[in-house]
Amino acid sequence: MDLPFTEPFKIKMVENIYRSTKEQRESWIKDASFNLFNLKSEQVFIDLLTDSGTGAMSDKQWSAMMLGDESYAGASSYYKLKDAIKDITGFNFFLPTHQGRAAENVLFSVLVKEGDLVPGNSHFDTTKGHIEFRKAIAVDCTIDAAVDTTTWHPFKGNVDIEKLENVLKTNPSGNISCIIVTVTNNTAGGQPVSMANLREVGKLSRKYGVKFIIDSARFAENAYFIKLREDGYADKDIRDIAREMFSYADGMTMSSKKDAIVNMGGFIGFREEELFRQASTYNIIYEGFITYGGMSGRDMNALAQGLYEGTELLYLESRINQVSRLGTRMKEYGIPVLEPFGGHAVFIDAKKFLPHIPIEEFPAQTLALELYTEGGVRGAEIGALMADRDPITRQNRYPELETVRLALPRRVYTDNHMNYVAAVVRNVFERREQIKRGVKISWEAPIMRHFTVRLERY
Ligand code: F0G
Repeated sequence: MDLPFTEPFKIKMVENIYRSTKEQRESWIKDASFNLFNLKSEQVFIDLLTDSGTGAMSDKQWSAMMLGDESYAGASSYYKLKDAIKDITGFNFFLPTHQGRAAENVLFSVLVKEGDLVPGNSHFDTTKGHIEFRKAIAVDCTIDAAVDTTTWHPFKGNVDIEKLENVLKTNPSGNISCIIVTVTNNTAGGQPVSMANLREVGKLSRKYGVKFIIDSARFAENAYFIKLREDGYADKDIRDIAREMFSYADGMTMSSKKDAIVNMGGFIGFREEELFRQASTYNIIYEGFITYGGMSGRDMNALAQGLYEGTELLYLESRINQVSRLGTRMKEYGIPVLEPFGGHAVFIDAKKFLPHIPIEEFPAQTLALELYTEGGVRGAEIGALMADRDPITRQNRYPELETVRLALPRRVYTDNHMNYVAAVVRNVFERREQIKRGVKISWEAPIMRHFTVRLERY
């Protein structure tokens, strides 16, 4: 018998969670204007809102924090992190930032100007926010297979090379800020990008003289999928795969809150000193001096250690298999889930789950609210609410994928918790026809509305 994948760690500290009643949750969600971001965390039983900053640090990370050097300039923690980044990504230069979107802000202050195009696979919402805030346009060149939730494709996060080349060919390179490839492709379902695809994007970036940046939040999970699914990589070490992925790019932005398993932190990696120098000025303005940039010494120490732990094969196997066990169970219950399952989350296809709710009534948000009231499970809408309005026409955008994402924090929940989650989704699925109407917006912010939107039930 093949032995199952198990967690390569045991639990040393626990945090109690509170199991509320349905009546309590009905009242809390109404007070929260039907926006799951407005709930207090104590009002949530199983929190799958995000895998960002919600992971459990190890004993080694906690002990590294005690050795943090809090010097303003030249802290040993900075050099420790610099060495870890060089070792794992191959990038010689780096700037610490307080999280991933701060890395985007600093880098885009150098690269993105009004009227530019920024092609790539699906841009994450903060990435798109930073692009659109600068009156530039994010062009999604993801392969068409990404929007079909049922066909199996090993690398559904890939860039369509032809679409990308068309954008590069028809626009002078001065109007293209850079190419951004997000690994894994979060918006398209936590789907990986193949090594061959990254290599091709690298070739195009050199052919057209445009910089290639990897949005690397989940680079280790991406490397694991390459090892699992791409010819020639089965025997390669995760870190060697990661270094090869980065070898095709000019730089990277990183939200360390995901694959580096810390609660806060980010950085930018650069191949060339010139870009690093230009970005350093903005880092000082927005984040802090270049040897701490928004992070304390202890946080840089924990991050340096986390980069190694997040790229351990046994850890990645247990993590990604926990996601797929949840997906498989839900599939067994007949629930329409996006396949293949992503690295960090299971995505429920809300258009198939609630086909009678029109897209204008936000079926994915409606479903996310039902999961919360049913069992205190908090997921995230990744659909029309998050897609927001077109920056020019101000009309609502309705993306093909209308999903609820159940993102799994790293090293936090057990399989029993996941069985509970699957049962909650199943209960809602069984009564789906009684859910007659969706929600409407009563207030929205001009940009990135989903975080603060206020909604009403019909
Ligand atoms: N890029 C990707 C692919 C992300 O998923 C995120 C964050 C960021 C950049 C921004 O990083 O949060 O550290 O500022 N994603 C979280 C999520 C919030 O829930 O998927 P950040």
